[in-house]
Amino acid sequence: MLKQPSQKYRPFPPVPLPDRKWPNRTLTQAPRWCSVDLRDGNQALADPMNVGQKLELFHALVKVGFREIEVGFPSASNTEFTFNRRLIEEGRAPDDVWLQVLVQAREHLIERTFESLVNAKKAIIHLYNSTSPAQRRVVFGMTKEEILQVAVRGAQMIRERLSLLPGTEVMLQYSPESFSATEVEFAKEVSEAVMEVWQPTPERKMILNLPDTVEVAMPNVYADQIEWMCRHLKNRDALIISLHTHNDRNTGTAATELGLLAGADRVEGTLFGNGERTGNLDLVTVAMNLYMHGIDPGLDFSDLNSLVRVYERCTGMTVPPRHPYAGELVFTAFSGSHQDAIRKGLKEWNEGRRTYWDVPYLTVDPNDLGREYREVIRVNSQSGRGGVAYLLESEFGIALPKEMQREFGPIANDEVDRLGREVSGAELKAMFWREYVERTQPWQLQGFATESCNGLVKCNARLLQDGKPVVLSGEGNGPLAALVNSFSQAGGPHFEITAYSEHALSAGKGASAIAYIQIKHTDGRTRWGVGVDTNIELASVRAVLSALNRS
Ligand code: KIV
Ligand code: ZN
Repeated sequence: MLKQPSQKYRPFPPVPLPDRKWPNRTLTQAPRWCSVDLRDGNQALADPMNVGQKLELFHALVKVGFREIEVGFPSASNTEFTFNRRLIEEGRAPDDVWLQVLVQAREHLIERTFESLVNAKKAIIHLYNSTSPAQRRVVFGMTKEEILQVAVRGAQMIRERLSLLPGTEVMLQYSPESFSATEVEFAKEVSEAVMEVWQPTPERKMILNLPDTVEVAMPNVYADQIEWMCRHLKNRDALIISLHTHNDRNTGTAATELGLLAGADRVEGTLFGNGERTGNLDLVTVAMNLYMHGIDPGLDFSDLNSLVRVYERCTGMTVPPRHPYAGELVFTAFSGSHQDAIRKGLKEWNEGRRTYWDVPYLTVDPNDLGREYREVIRVNSQSGRGGVAYLLESEFGIALPKEMQREFGPIANDEVDRLGREVSGAELKAMFWREYVERTQPWQLQGFATESCNGLVKCNARLLQDGKPVVLSGEGNGPLAALVNSFSQAGGPHFEITAYSEHALSAGKGASAIAYIQIKHTDGRTRWGVGVDTNIELASVRAVLSALNRS
């Protein structure tokens, strides 16, 4: 990189709009949405979608609620043309869905585009030509006036052919491509020249799409450009101002949101931001950003996981794990403090103690997107004991007593730290089992029998001590007290039971119980032990042996 980038790059000039209004506005309703997945998204794929894939994605877009869908560039390839024809001839497009088609201002392309639309119910014909200084100079070698004439001729060719689509409700759209890099005065001039040809009215509006074809400035600059256009264009009320942002500076979402504040009515973009280079605007993110402020976006992402699967299958792209709302990890907390806060927040919410969603770290309820709470917690070395306990309980019904969490949490964390990766629930359970349940040295249970006599319980414990059989007998006011006494009477370890809890582990036949016991040695050391057995008394005996084996 250069030491002095200013010798090669220069800042983007600001738009003269000192009395800008957009910073003081808030969004209160959803815009009109237009998906360009099947055109802009598709043209950016290493392997563009085939007709079957485009059909599948089209139906998914309709299901989500898109009513304006740019289905392609029908004059550009047979696949695009055939796809459009199949949508129309096979009646696949619902009557209220506008099929949008893109075309350059060239006669033979416009003719082919019209052929692709015959018998469509609703169609948006989208004309574009590039207007920025770099495009005028490098690509076309044309003056401003010549560029303007390209747009006007394209608009005329379209107007002249409208009678070829008698049964079709047609809406017209013009994009001064590379608008955000174009002088606003010139963008206005070209747009108004097109309006002059198409003569839109408030009753029969045209769409003026103002693309951020390549992001060249901060999103506030794009907002200024949009507000400038909205304030200076003639017959604003005959226009649907549309935004179409890309993401070169990673601010496509911000640019769109500020552009809406600046007065735009409509947003073009793609699912999960697929598109040229760094992609198009991610429509899901903008829609969900509205939703999390209580605004109905008019799009339904309540089965987001399925939509991700359709998208990935059709485009061959993947949704990154940290992608807002849709990524695999966005409802996953790794750090103990986050896990704790989320758990408390979810509890408060599930108990109906709040009217409005306000769960720490979760901007929306994953459930609203068809995603699961199960995804919220996983364990890595940063997870606190709370996270460990939560996972054992939510996945396996192992409800560790609070005090025991303090003992097992650090043990699990050390192990996860040693592995240097996050662990699954099954691995965590295996660790727990190894640490408590599977310990058989020095003490292992062979058999345990009790009998009661005058309120006293006598026990007979058949054990292996370091592999050698021993029999211990003792008595007490319950089986466990008898077991504790049997050890001290035999000269074995002296201890008392300081905490006990148990619960069923699984329901039905063969159901087992789990017992958690804390013992305290005469020197003050405490240890937890865990026993699992179909018989609750034996589970407790095993828990005592587990605690002794860990001493
Ligand atoms: O990014 C862009 O400018 C486009 C136009 C064709 C609208 O995709
Ligand atoms: Zn684009």
